Amino acid sequence: MPFSRFLSILLLLLFSLSLSAHADAPPVRQRQLMDANWRFQLAAPTALGQAVPVTAWRREAVTASQIALPGLDTLRPSWQNAVVGEDVFKSQAGFAWYEATLPTLAAPHHVLHFESVDDNATVYLNGKQLVHHEGWNEPFDVPLDTVWNAGGPNVVSMLVENTAGAGGIMGAAMLGTPTPKTDESAFIRPSFNDHAWRVVHLPHDYVVEGTFDPNGDATHAALPTPRAWYRKTFTLPASDSGKSVWIDFDGVYRDAKVYLNGQMLGEHPGGYDTFRYDISRAAKFGGVNVLAVSVNPAHHEGWWYEGGGIYRHVWLNVAAPIHIAPWGTFVSTKYLEMGVAGDTHDIRGGGVIAAAVTVKTTVNGAQFPRFVGIPPRFQLISRVISPAGQLAALSEVSLGLPIGTRDYAQQIQVPNPQLWSLETPQLYRLHSELLLNGKVIDATDTPFGIRTIRFDAQRGFFLNGHPVKIKGTCNHQDFAGVGTGMPDSLLYWRIKKLKAMGSNAYRMSHNPPAAELLDACDKLGMLVMDENRHLGDTEEAKSSLTTPYSDLSELKSMVQRDRNHPSIIMWSMCNEEGIQGSPQAAAIFTAMQKVVNANDGTRPVTCAMNGGYDSAVGITSVEDLQGINYNPTAYDGFHQAHPNMPLYGSETSSEVGTRGVYGPDTFRIDGITYLGNQAKGHISAYDLHAPPWAETAEAAWQPIADRPYVAGGFVWTGFDYKGEPTPFGWPDINSNFGVMDECGFPKDTYYYYQSVWGDAPMVHVFPHWNWAGKEGRPVDVWAYSSAARVELMLNGKSLGVQNMPKNGHVHWSVPYAPGTLKAWAYDGARDTAVATDTVETTGPPAALKLTTDRTALTADGEDVTMVEVDVVDAAGRIVPTASNLVTFHLTGTGRIAGVGNGDPSCHEPDQARTRSEFGGKCLVIIGAGEKPGQMNLSAASPGLQSAALHLSSR
Ligand code: GAL
Repeated sequence: MPFSRFLSILLLLLFSLSLSAHADAPPVRQRQLMDANWRFQLAAPTALGQAVPVTAWRREAVTASQIALPGLDTLRPSWQNAVVGEDVFKSQAGFAWYEATLPTLAAPHHVLHFESVDDNATVYLNGKQLVHHEGWNEPFDVPLDTVWNAGGPNVVSMLVENTAGAGGIMGAAMLGTPTPKTDESAFIRPSFNDHAWRVVHLPHDYVVEGTFDPNGDATHAALPTPRAWYRKTFTLPASDSGKSVWIDFDGVYRDAKVYLNGQMLGEHPGGYDTFRYDISRAAKFGGVNVLAVSVNPAHHEGWWYEGGGIYRHVWLNVAAPIHIAPWGTFVSTKYLEMGVAGDTHDIRGGGVIAAAVTVKTTVNGAQFPRFVGIPPRFQLISRVISPAGQLAALSEVSLGLPIGTRDYAQQIQVPNPQLWSLETPQLYRLHSELLLNGKVIDATDTPFGIRTIRFDAQRGFFLNGHPVKIKGTCNHQDFAGVGTGMPDSLLYWRIKKLKAMGSNAYRMSHNPPAAELLDACDKLGMLVMDENRHLGDTEEAKSSLTTPYSDLSELKSMVQRDRNHPSIIMWSMCNEEGIQGSPQAAAIFTAMQKVVNANDGTRPVTCAMNGGYDSAVGITSVEDLQGINYNPTAYDGFHQAHPNMPLYGSETSSEVGTRGVYGPDTFRIDGITYLGNQAKGHISAYDLHAPPWAETAEAAWQPIADRPYVAGGFVWTGFDYKGEPTPFGWPDINSNFGVMDECGFPKDTYYYYQSVWGDAPMVHVFPHWNWAGKEGRPVDVWAYSSAARVELMLNGKSLGVQNMPKNGHVHWSVPYAPGTLKAWAYDGARDTAVATDTVETTGPPAALKLTTDRTALTADGEDVTMVEVDVVDAAGRIVPTASNLVTFHLTGTGRIAGVGNGDPSCHEPDQARTRSEFGGKCLVIIGAGEKPGQMNLSAASPGLQSAALHLSSR
């Protein structure tokens, strides 16, 4: 036998033995959270040493069609000298080229620092593009070393785009040498002593720990975005050697650089997608490993608060060298009804006798050794486990040799399937096993649901054959107290709040979500519009006509990761791209659609457009489903022009209001009169106000409700979020768009949606009834109700019965008198009220009251419970005007994870032990520790009776 053949057989034998040995030692695959015990440190700011100002700029105005690569003749007469700080655009939108020859510096490293380029800049050195930067108020650095010409000359060219207002190089430009105040290269070394660094538990957003800065950018919540470092020490047993080991980062904001044991694993700029590194080679088995991660959240991908840090989970995965690839199972389902396969049946009349489940499994055999001789036997067994945990069906196939990466398809029939629906979100599980010579070497579990979805251009959306109006909200991914570092239990809590409002759909605006948020939607029954961050490759806030689309890996990872979630009913490629009506956008969209369909193919591909849908050559001409942001008056025209294109409101309303604020002050911004107080950054909670591009809640929902062909809509937004404080800037640092505030406390509009979306009888009357000093003066009283009529009574005296207008509200002007204002909702006779609601004039603040829906937590270091902290009067009624400062004290095995009060202009820190009340309420989030035990929370405020709450964690 030739030696090479002998060696191959030996290798294979050893390989099989090692796999079999591992197979005997369950578990065959491990997936462990790596969230505990990270060390964390803010990076010292980098100074610019030996800095010299760059002032000798020349510039030339160009039109969009003249934008060519540099190589510019700056001596042409159209070029002029430019001055730093000059508005070269004269406040008009447009483009201009700038050019300057940089001075020679003796230092080895060079950086060009810009304080402010208004608005967007693409910077080239010696003809090579280095950086594209967006945002006039964000200083940025351009590292020059890669194309620096040591002998000179070094010519910097910059294309500047102005979108509105003044524009140009508005702040200093400096050439210098970056000189970190600390030697950060030490942080990646395993030997570095990080004991002085703070211990943190993921998910972690450190930007939310900062101090609100009046000079900061309120769009992004006016919080500083310094760089930071994380380190994590962990061990791997010697027995894992030879296995496939990888780490998943579910979300790092942003520009992550990841090192293991001093070696760089990679850089990942994107702030919203899951990424992974194979560490099979770099890891030490039977020893200590050190991960080091640097993050830099300074660059914004969006126009809202984006946080900073390792703000989602990190997972360690250990599997056999041949294994089911990560995200390597794809389950899709169809019904078999009376023996016919299809997914468009209306099943109301007939039963579904079986579901046809198609499973595609990708096996990663990249580490399979070359061999000659008797081939080993590989098998794949896919078991469908019912919602009750029983085996429902099974398929077993023999595989060819899984050399490289191979896909295997299986068809499985599941008899009498239990369908996933909004009311009974039944979840099956696919248990996949990979066997080598009869022994299990790898196993994975994939939850999935059996359901059908369909969009009809005339009748809207259908789930399992039943029409379902989409009653959705858009949401960003931060919350009071914790910012973007939202624990899983908070994600579930938020979905429950939305469901209680009658909402059945959630738009992941404008980025891929945490996988656990999709789990929550699957388990609780919530439809999902899953959304990619960018049109094309760019990681900027908006795409330009020249956006490349050759690397769509971020989109691919979103689809591969998320495609088994039954809650997802559509894939959205982007939101409000300025180029949406152009052929370039259609070409980018088409490329993205191909990626989606190659990895899924069971859901329509759409995006959210705020114009451009009239264009015959834009995204509308290639997408499956039309999303229109705002513009309800466009629905009919679009439907007539595109009678076969299903349509929905991808973003609606944007009504603004502050919880518990009703006036009577008024203020004006941009010619619009608002009820509220501009100095305080508060705007009335009556559904009266929306920015010029938007509508009140009623004006947005009525046109959708009235049109069967509009499949539904997604309200901007379910919850307030940090940043985007429209119509204000500072002092507001939060949005006012939410139907709930940043703490999840409902504003009055929440009850509007409950009245038109929910199915329980209800009535809600507002405002509060504490108007001391306004006796006899008229107060506008509104009521929302699901019933046919509402009667209002003040201190037992009827103020009349009114018919509820369809999808509207009723209102009275009531001369204020303290006491009890009560609304009665009737569907039938007047003496059979189906619901009542009362507001009462309260006494002064007397006590604190703590309320939570969950006092038993899981001792995993991550679980949280939200505790509402009310100021009540002597009769136990919430005092709606109270603003007392509350101090919290927690003993036992937990921690105070954050605080908030929903006031968009409150500048008290989110990470604190104190918080002012706002409208009689504030929130404290209590987190479980890693050890089981008891916790006692107390809340105190001068002059008020304290409150206490006992919690436990197991
Ligand atoms: C939309 C945009 C959202 C948000 C909203 C505020 O145009 O898509 O991200 O900015 O306006 O009304």
